[in-house]
Amino acid sequence: MSNSLGVRGYHFIEFYVGSAKMWTYWLAKAFSMNITAYSGPEKGVKDRVSYLLTKNNMKFLITSAVKPSNFDVLSFVNKHGDGVKRWSLEVESVTDAYNFAIKNGGIPTRRPKKIEDDFGYVEEAAIKLYDDAEIVFFNNDNYGGNFRPGFGEPVLKINIDTIDTGLDKVDHIVGNVRENEMDLWVNYLNKTLGLETFLEFGVGDISTKYSALLSKVVRSKDKIIRNPVNEPYEGLKKSQIEEYIDEYTGSGIQHIAITTDNIIETIKNMRLNGIEFLTTPPDTYYEMLKEKGWEITEDIDELKKYGILCDLEGEGYLLQLFTKPIGDRPTFFFEIIQRRKGAEGFGQGNFQALFESIERDQILRGNFDKE
Ligand code: FE2
Repeated sequence: MSNSLGVRGYHFIEFYVGSAKMWTYWLAKAFSMNITAYSGPEKGVKDRVSYLLTKNNMKFLITSAVKPSNFDVLSFVNKHGDGVKRWSLEVESVTDAYNFAIKNGGIPTRRPKKIEDDFGYVEEAAIKLYDDAEIVFFNNDNYGGNFRPGFGEPVLKINIDTIDTGLDKVDHIVGNVRENEMDLWVNYLNKTLGLETFLEFGVGDISTKYSALLSKVVRSKDKIIRNPVNEPYEGLKKSQIEEYIDEYTGSGIQHIAITTDNIIETIKNMRLNGIEFLTTPPDTYYEMLKEKGWEITEDIDELKKYGILCDLEGEGYLLQLFTKPIGDRPTFFFEIIQRRKGAEGFGQGNFQALFESIERDQILRGNFDKE
Protein backbone atom coordinates (compact mmCIF):
# COMPACT_ATOMS: atom_id res chain seq x y z
CA MET A 1 0.00 0.00 0.00
CA SER A 2 1.74 3.17 -1.15
CA ASN A 3 -0.81 5.79 -0.17
CA SER A 4 -3.26 6.45 2.64
CA LEU A 5 -6.23 5.01 0.73
CA GLY A 6 -4.63 1.78 -0.50
CA VAL A 7 -5.06 2.89 -4.11
CA ARG A 8 -3.36 0.69 -6.70
CA GLY A 9 -4.28 2.87 -9.65
CA TYR A 10 -7.07 3.90 -11.97
CA HIS A 11 -9.30 0.96 -12.91
CA PHE A 12 -12.22 1.22 -15.37
CA ILE A 13 -13.66 4.48 -16.68
CA GLU A 14 -17.36 4.34 -17.53
CA PHE A 15 -18.92 6.46 -20.27
CA TYR A 16 -22.67 6.97 -20.65
CA VAL A 17 -23.44 7.35 -24.34
CA GLY A 18 -26.30 7.37 -26.85
CA SER A 19 -25.21 4.15 -28.56
CA ALA A 20 -22.72 1.88 -26.79
CA LYS A 21 -22.34 -0.36 -29.84
CA MET A 22 -21.22 2.56 -32.04
CA TRP A 23 -18.76 3.84 -29.45
CA THR A 24 -17.41 0.31 -29.11
CA TYR A 25 -16.80 0.04 -32.86
CA TRP A 26 -15.11 3.44 -32.80
CA LEU A 27 -12.77 2.63 -29.89
CA ALA A 28 -11.93 -0.79 -31.37
CA LYS A 29 -11.01 0.85 -34.67
CA ALA A 30 -9.51 4.19 -33.66
CA PHE A 31 -7.73 3.19 -30.42
CA SER A 32 -7.18 -0.47 -31.43
CA MET A 33 -8.83 -1.58 -28.19
CA ASN A 34 -10.10 -5.12 -27.58
CA ILE A 35 -13.75 -5.83 -26.83
CA THR A 36 -13.38 -8.13 -23.82
CA ALA A 37 -16.67 -8.26 -21.91
CA TYR A 38 -20.33 -7.49 -22.38
CA SER A 39 -23.43 -7.03 -20.26
CA GLY A 40 -26.97 -6.68 -21.59
CA PRO A 41 -30.23 -8.54 -22.21
CA GLU A 42 -28.37 -11.72 -23.30
CA LYS A 43 -26.75 -11.76 -19.82
CA GLY A 44 -29.98 -11.06 -17.95
CA VAL A 45 -29.61 -7.27 -17.73
CA LYS A 46 -32.75 -5.88 -19.32
CA ASP A 47 -32.49 -2.11 -19.48
CA ARG A 48 -28.90 -1.35 -20.47
CA VAL A 49 -25.93 -2.64 -22.44
CA SER A 50 -22.26 -2.23 -21.51
CA TYR A 51 -19.15 -3.17 -23.46
CA LEU A 52 -15.78 -3.41 -21.74
CA LEU A 53 -12.85 -2.45 -23.96
CA THR A 54 -9.28 -3.01 -22.84
CA LYS A 55 -5.86 -2.12 -24.13
CA ASN A 56 -2.68 -2.79 -22.16
CA ASN A 57 -3.42 -1.16 -18.78
CA MET A 58 -6.59 0.75 -19.61
CA LYS A 59 -10.22 -0.27 -19.36
CA PHE A 60 -13.17 1.66 -20.75
CA LEU A 61 -16.74 0.64 -20.00
CA ILE A 62 -19.23 1.97 -22.54
CA THR A 63 -22.87 1.96 -21.46
CA SER A 64 -26.17 2.96 -23.01
CA ALA A 65 -29.84 2.47 -22.12
CA VAL A 66 -32.01 0.07 -24.10
CA LYS A 67 -35.29 0.79 -22.26
CA PRO A 68 -36.99 4.12 -21.53
CA SER A 69 -37.16 3.02 -17.88
CA ASN A 70 -33.38 3.39 -17.52
CA PHE A 71 -33.54 6.91 -16.21
CA ASP A 72 -29.96 6.84 -14.84
CA VAL A 73 -28.30 6.63 -18.26
CA LEU A 74 -30.97 8.44 -20.29
CA SER A 75 -31.15 11.50 -18.06
CA PHE A 76 -27.34 11.80 -18.09
CA VAL A 77 -27.11 11.56 -21.88
CA ASN A 78 -30.08 13.86 -22.35
CA LYS A 79 -28.45 16.54 -20.22
CA HIS A 80 -24.74 16.14 -20.97
CA GLY A 81 -24.47 14.22 -24.24
CA ASP A 82 -21.95 11.36 -24.38
CA GLY A 83 -19.55 11.70 -21.45
CA VAL A 84 -17.72 10.18 -18.49
CA LYS A 85 -20.11 9.12 -15.75
CA ARG A 86 -17.54 7.63 -13.38
CA TRP A 87 -13.90 6.78 -12.98
CA SER A 88 -12.79 4.09 -10.63
CA LEU A 89 -9.85 3.46 -8.38
CA GLU A 90 -8.69 -0.06 -7.69
CA VAL A 91 -8.21 -0.19 -3.92
CA GLU A 92 -6.95 -2.76 -1.40
CA SER A 93 -10.15 -2.48 0.63
CA VAL A 94 -13.33 -0.88 -0.71
CA THR A 95 -14.80 -0.43 2.77
CA ASP A 96 -11.65 1.20 4.18
CA ALA A 97 -11.31 3.58 1.21
CA TYR A 98 -14.99 4.49 1.33
CA ASN A 99 -14.96 5.05 5.10
CA PHE A 100 -11.86 7.24 4.77
CA ALA A 101 -13.53 9.30 2.03
CA ILE A 102 -16.81 9.72 3.93
CA LYS A 103 -15.05 10.64 7.17
CA ASN A 104 -13.23 13.36 5.25
CA GLY A 105 -16.25 14.93 3.60
CA GLY A 106 -17.00 12.60 0.67
CA ILE A 107 -20.62 12.68 -0.48
CA PRO A 108 -21.90 9.09 -0.63
CA THR A 109 -23.68 7.89 -3.77
CA ARG A 110 -23.32 4.12 -3.24
CA ARG A 111 -22.41 2.38 -0.01
CA PRO A 112 -19.98 -0.57 -0.06
CA LYS A 113 -21.58 -3.58 -1.69
CA LYS A 114 -20.51 -7.12 -2.48
CA ILE A 115 -21.80 -8.31 -5.86
CA GLU A 116 -21.63 -12.08 -6.30
CA ASP A 117 -22.13 -14.86 -8.82
CA ASP A 118 -20.74 -18.36 -9.35
CA PHE A 119 -17.26 -16.97 -10.15
CA GLY A 120 -16.82 -15.10 -6.87
CA TYR A 121 -17.49 -11.51 -5.93
CA VAL A 122 -16.45 -7.91 -6.55
CA GLU A 123 -16.83 -5.06 -4.08
CA GLU A 124 -17.58 -1.46 -4.89
CA ALA A 125 -18.73 1.84 -3.42
CA ALA A 126 -18.92 5.38 -4.80
CA ILE A 127 -18.85 9.04 -3.89
CA LYS A 128 -20.09 12.04 -5.81
CA LEU A 129 -17.86 14.12 -8.09
CA TYR A 130 -18.76 17.40 -9.84
CA ASP A 131 -22.41 17.85 -10.91
CA ASP A 132 -23.23 14.37 -12.07
CA ALA A 133 -20.18 12.10 -11.92
CA GLU A 134 -18.82 9.56 -9.46
CA ILE A 135 -15.56 8.20 -8.13
CA VAL A 136 -15.83 4.44 -7.62
CA PHE A 137 -13.75 2.37 -5.20
CA PHE A 138 -13.41 -1.04 -6.81
CA ASN A 139 -11.86 -4.40 -6.01
CA ASN A 140 -12.22 -7.64 -7.98
CA ASP A 141 -9.41 -9.69 -6.36
CA ASN A 142 -11.94 -12.39 -5.47
CA TYR A 143 -13.57 -12.63 -8.87
CA GLY A 144 -12.58 -15.34 -11.35
CA GLY A 145 -15.08 -14.48 -14.07
CA ASN A 146 -15.01 -11.93 -16.86
CA PHE A 147 -14.72 -8.44 -15.27
CA ARG A 148 -17.67 -8.62 -12.83
CA PRO A 149 -21.04 -10.32 -12.24
CA GLY A 150 -23.53 -9.59 -15.02
CA PHE A 151 -20.77 -9.63 -17.65
CA GLY A 152 -19.67 -12.37 -20.00
CA GLU A 153 -18.13 -13.03 -23.37
CA PRO A 154 -18.89 -10.22 -25.83
CA VAL A 155 -21.77 -11.00 -28.20
CA LEU A 156 -20.18 -8.66 -30.74
CA LYS A 157 -17.86 -10.92 -32.74
CA ILE A 158 -16.32 -8.65 -35.30
CA ASN A 159 -13.06 -8.36 -37.09
CA ILE A 160 -11.94 -4.76 -37.21
CA ASP A 161 -9.08 -3.70 -39.43
CA THR A 162 -7.05 -1.49 -37.11
CA ILE A 163 -3.43 -0.46 -36.70
CA ASP A 164 -1.95 -0.93 -33.22
CA THR A 165 -1.81 2.37 -31.33
CA GLY A 166 0.34 1.21 -28.41
CA LEU A 167 -1.86 3.18 -25.98
CA ASP A 168 -1.01 2.04 -22.46
CA LYS A 169 -2.69 3.54 -19.40
CA VAL A 170 -4.55 6.52 -17.98
CA ASP A 171 -2.13 9.27 -16.99
CA HIS A 172 -4.57 11.89 -15.67
CA ILE A 173 -8.26 12.80 -15.64
CA VAL A 174 -9.28 16.44 -15.89
CA GLY A 175 -12.44 18.16 -14.65
CA ASN A 176 -13.99 21.45 -15.77
CA VAL A 177 -15.97 23.38 -13.17
CA ARG A 178 -17.65 26.78 -12.93
CA GLU A 179 -16.07 30.02 -11.78
CA ASN A 180 -15.23 29.80 -8.03
CA GLU A 181 -15.78 26.03 -7.93
CA MET A 182 -12.15 24.97 -8.48
CA ASP A 183 -11.00 25.27 -4.86
CA LEU A 184 -14.15 23.54 -3.64
CA TRP A 185 -13.45 20.46 -5.78
CA VAL A 186 -9.67 20.56 -5.28
CA ASN A 187 -10.22 20.48 -1.51
CA TYR A 188 -12.80 17.72 -1.91
CA LEU A 189 -10.44 15.54 -3.96
CA ASN A 190 -7.52 16.20 -1.61
CA LYS A 191 -9.47 15.41 1.53
CA THR A 192 -11.55 12.44 0.38
CA LEU A 193 -8.80 10.69 -1.60
CA GLY A 194 -5.82 11.76 0.54
CA LEU A 195 -4.26 13.67 -2.38
CA GLU A 196 -2.24 16.88 -2.37
CA THR A 197 -2.11 19.94 -4.61
CA PHE A 198 0.91 19.53 -6.85
CA LEU A 199 0.67 22.43 -9.32
CA GLU A 200 -1.24 25.70 -9.42
CA PHE A 201 -1.80 27.86 -12.47
CA GLY A 202 -3.09 31.26 -11.39
CA VAL A 203 -4.12 34.48 -13.10
CA GLY A 204 -1.98 35.09 -16.19
CA ASP A 205 -0.38 31.62 -16.25
CA ILE A 206 -2.80 30.15 -18.79
CA SER A 207 -4.24 32.71 -21.15
CA THR A 208 -4.45 33.82 -24.75
CA LYS A 209 -5.19 37.31 -26.01
CA TYR A 210 -8.90 36.56 -25.61
CA SER A 211 -9.55 34.09 -22.82
CA ALA A 212 -8.12 32.60 -19.66
CA LEU A 213 -8.49 29.82 -17.16
CA LEU A 214 -7.25 28.80 -13.74
CA SER A 215 -6.09 25.29 -12.95
CA LYS A 216 -4.87 23.22 -10.00
CA VAL A 217 -3.51 19.70 -10.15
CA VAL A 218 -4.03 17.25 -7.31
CA ARG A 219 -2.17 13.96 -7.15
CA SER A 220 -1.33 11.06 -4.88
CA LYS A 221 2.08 10.98 -3.21
CA ASP A 222 3.11 8.04 -5.40
CA LYS A 223 1.97 10.01 -8.51
CA ILE A 224 -0.33 7.21 -9.69
CA ILE A 225 -3.42 9.42 -9.49
CA ARG A 226 -3.33 12.87 -11.08
CA ASN A 227 -6.44 15.04 -11.40
CA PRO A 228 -6.30 18.60 -12.70
CA VAL A 229 -9.34 20.82 -12.14
CA ASN A 230 -9.97 23.87 -14.37
CA GLU A 231 -12.23 26.86 -13.96
CA PRO A 232 -12.78 29.78 -16.37
CA TYR A 233 -11.28 33.19 -15.69
CA GLU A 234 -12.56 36.49 -17.03
CA GLY A 235 -11.49 37.36 -20.59
CA LEU A 236 -12.63 39.27 -23.64
CA LYS A 237 -14.19 36.19 -25.20
CA LYS A 238 -15.76 32.99 -23.94
CA SER A 239 -13.07 30.60 -22.70
CA GLN A 240 -13.01 26.92 -23.68
CA ILE A 241 -14.01 26.08 -20.08
CA GLU A 242 -17.13 28.29 -20.30
CA GLU A 243 -17.96 26.68 -23.63
CA TYR A 244 -17.66 23.24 -22.01
CA ILE A 245 -19.89 24.22 -19.05
CA ASP A 246 -22.53 25.61 -21.44
CA GLU A 247 -22.47 22.69 -23.87
CA TYR A 248 -22.16 19.94 -21.25
CA THR A 249 -24.79 21.72 -19.16
CA GLY A 250 -22.72 21.71 -16.01
CA SER A 251 -19.41 20.62 -14.55
CA GLY A 252 -17.81 17.30 -15.52
CA ILE A 253 -14.86 15.45 -16.97
CA GLN A 254 -13.12 17.37 -19.77
CA HIS A 255 -10.39 15.01 -20.89
CA ILE A 256 -8.53 11.81 -20.14
CA ALA A 257 -4.84 11.58 -20.94
CA ILE A 258 -3.43 8.23 -22.07
CA THR A 259 0.24 7.29 -22.09
CA THR A 260 2.30 5.70 -24.83
CA ASP A 261 6.02 4.92 -24.92
CA ASN A 262 6.33 5.85 -28.59
CA ILE A 263 4.18 8.86 -29.33
CA ILE A 264 5.31 9.22 -32.95
CA GLU A 265 4.14 5.69 -33.80
CA THR A 266 0.97 6.15 -31.74
CA ILE A 267 -0.09 9.41 -33.39
CA LYS A 268 0.87 8.17 -36.84
CA ASN A 269 -1.31 5.08 -36.38
CA MET A 270 -4.18 6.89 -34.69
CA ARG A 271 -4.29 9.28 -37.65
CA LEU A 272 -4.37 6.27 -40.00
CA ASN A 273 -7.20 4.81 -37.89
CA GLY A 274 -9.20 7.98 -38.50
CA ILE A 275 -8.70 10.09 -35.36
CA GLU A 276 -8.98 13.85 -35.71
CA PHE A 277 -6.51 15.88 -33.67
CA LEU A 278 -6.38 19.58 -32.87
CA THR A 279 -4.85 21.69 -35.61
CA THR A 280 -1.11 21.27 -36.05
CA PRO A 281 0.92 24.18 -34.65
CA PRO A 282 2.50 26.54 -37.22
CA ASP A 283 5.97 25.77 -38.68
CA THR A 284 7.44 28.48 -36.44
CA TYR A 285 6.60 26.32 -33.40
CA TYR A 286 9.00 23.61 -34.66
CA GLU A 287 11.62 26.11 -35.83
CA MET A 288 11.65 27.53 -32.30
CA LEU A 289 11.85 24.02 -30.88
CA LYS A 290 14.99 23.39 -32.97
CA GLU A 291 16.51 26.73 -31.94
CA LYS A 292 16.05 25.90 -28.26
CA GLY A 293 18.49 23.01 -28.78
CA TRP A 294 16.90 20.77 -26.13
CA GLU A 295 18.21 17.26 -25.76
CA ILE A 296 15.33 15.24 -27.06
CA THR A 297 15.48 11.75 -28.50
CA GLU A 298 12.82 12.30 -31.15
CA ASP A 299 13.44 13.84 -34.55
CA ILE A 300 11.77 17.28 -34.54
CA ASP A 301 10.80 16.90 -38.20
CA GLU A 302 8.89 13.74 -37.25
CA LEU A 303 7.13 15.60 -34.43
CA LYS A 304 6.22 18.32 -36.93
CA LYS A 305 4.97 15.79 -39.46
CA TYR A 306 2.42 14.46 -36.95
CA GLY A 307 1.70 17.76 -35.17
CA ILE A 308 3.07 16.56 -31.80
CA LEU A 309 3.83 19.18 -29.12
CA CYS A 310 6.94 19.15 -26.93
CA ASP A 311 7.61 20.86 -23.60
CA LEU A 312 10.78 20.81 -21.50
CA GLU A 313 10.64 20.75 -17.72
CA GLY A 314 13.61 20.32 -15.44
CA GLU A 315 15.67 17.37 -16.65
CA GLY A 316 12.78 15.81 -18.54
CA TYR A 317 10.36 16.67 -21.27
CA LEU A 318 6.92 15.67 -22.37
CA LEU A 319 5.32 15.09 -25.73
CA GLN A 320 1.59 15.46 -26.15
CA LEU A 321 -1.30 15.95 -28.53
CA PHE A 322 -5.04 16.44 -28.06
CA THR A 323 -7.88 14.98 -30.09
CA LYS A 324 -10.82 17.06 -31.22
CA PRO A 325 -13.99 16.51 -29.13
CA ILE A 326 -15.11 12.88 -29.52
CA GLY A 327 -18.91 13.14 -29.42
CA ASP A 328 -21.36 15.52 -31.05
CA ARG A 329 -20.93 18.28 -28.48
CA PRO A 330 -17.66 20.24 -28.04
CA THR A 331 -17.08 18.68 -24.62
CA PHE A 332 -15.06 15.52 -23.91
CA PHE A 333 -11.76 14.73 -25.67
CA PHE A 334 -8.61 12.62 -25.21
CA GLU A 335 -4.96 13.58 -24.77
CA ILE A 336 -2.07 11.35 -25.81
CA ILE A 337 1.05 11.87 -23.69
CA GLN A 338 4.59 10.54 -23.43
CA ARG A 339 6.65 11.50 -20.40
CA ARG A 340 10.41 11.44 -20.90
CA LYS A 341 13.16 11.42 -18.26
CA GLY A 342 10.75 11.83 -15.35
CA ALA A 343 8.75 14.82 -16.61
CA GLU A 344 5.78 15.27 -14.29
CA GLY A 345 4.01 18.38 -15.59
CA PHE A 346 1.23 18.98 -18.06
CA GLY A 347 2.91 20.91 -20.89
CA GLN A 348 2.45 24.46 -19.67
CA GLY A 349 4.75 25.70 -22.43
CA ASN A 350 2.19 24.40 -24.94
CA PHE A 351 -0.91 25.86 -23.32
CA GLN A 352 -1.00 29.00 -25.42
CA ALA A 353 -0.48 27.26 -28.80
CA LEU A 354 -3.10 24.72 -27.80
CA PHE A 355 -5.72 27.11 -26.58
CA GLU A 356 -5.36 29.27 -29.65
CA SER A 357 -6.04 26.14 -31.68
CA ILE A 358 -9.17 25.42 -29.59
CA GLU A 359 -10.28 29.03 -30.05
CA ARG A 360 -10.13 28.65 -33.83
CA ASP A 361 -12.58 25.74 -33.50
CA GLN A 362 -14.77 27.71 -31.07
CA ILE A 363 -15.10 30.47 -33.68
CA LEU A 364 -16.25 27.87 -36.23
CA ARG A 365 -18.86 26.62 -33.75
CA GLY A 366 -20.07 30.19 -33.06
CA ASN A 367 -19.16 29.75 -29.37
CA PHE A 368 -16.48 32.41 -28.97
CA ASP A 369 -18.47 35.61 -28.45
CA LYS A 370 -20.08 36.08 -25.07
CA GLU A 371 -23.86 36.32 -25.11
FE1 FE2 B 1 -4.07 16.93 -19.82
